[in-house]
Amino acid sequence: MFQTESYNGTMEENYSLLNKQLSALLSGEDHLIANLSNASALLNVFLKDINWVGFYLYENNGLVLGPFQGLPACIRIPLGRGVCGTAAQKKETIVVDNVEKFPGHIACDAASRSEIVIPVFKDGSLVAVLDIDSPQLCRFTQEEASHLESFVKILEYHL
Ligand code: SME
Repeated sequence: MFQTESYNGTMEENYSLLNKQLSALLSGEDHLIANLSNASALLNVFLKDINWVGFYLYENNGLVLGPFQGLPACIRIPLGRGVCGTAAQKKETIVVDNVEKFPGHIACDAASRSEIVIPVFKDGSLVAVLDIDSPQLCRFTQEEASHLESFVKILEYHL
């Protein structure tokens, strides 16, 4: 049974605990959908002040909705469109402090104000992007982006 934690340490301590939980959850399992599902559920209990967290899968040169927590979302995103499609095309993390200032941002939940999207790779190829939305402006600092990239590295190891 999964034990919830209070995550009341420093950001470093909290992410260290989170990453241990992720490793334990994914240990011995390499099913893509199962592991992305548990990763999104774990992030949803861990992250404060977010309204959507989940994955878009990279398929047929575009993105399709994968495991997530939050309101129902748009299903397909072409490469290069919105924050997710741009991160997938550039194969790099994108942090958006104010989604209204990101040209082409796709509003799935009207509450979203800031966003981070991190590409997920398997054997060097793009397989998905992790998308996290927040109702707060400037929710994702560079420090937190680095921690989330480390989380994704652990996830990638289990895909
Ligand atoms: N806002 C995203 C679309 C996905 S939803 O937020 C879940 C974007 O512009 O890529």
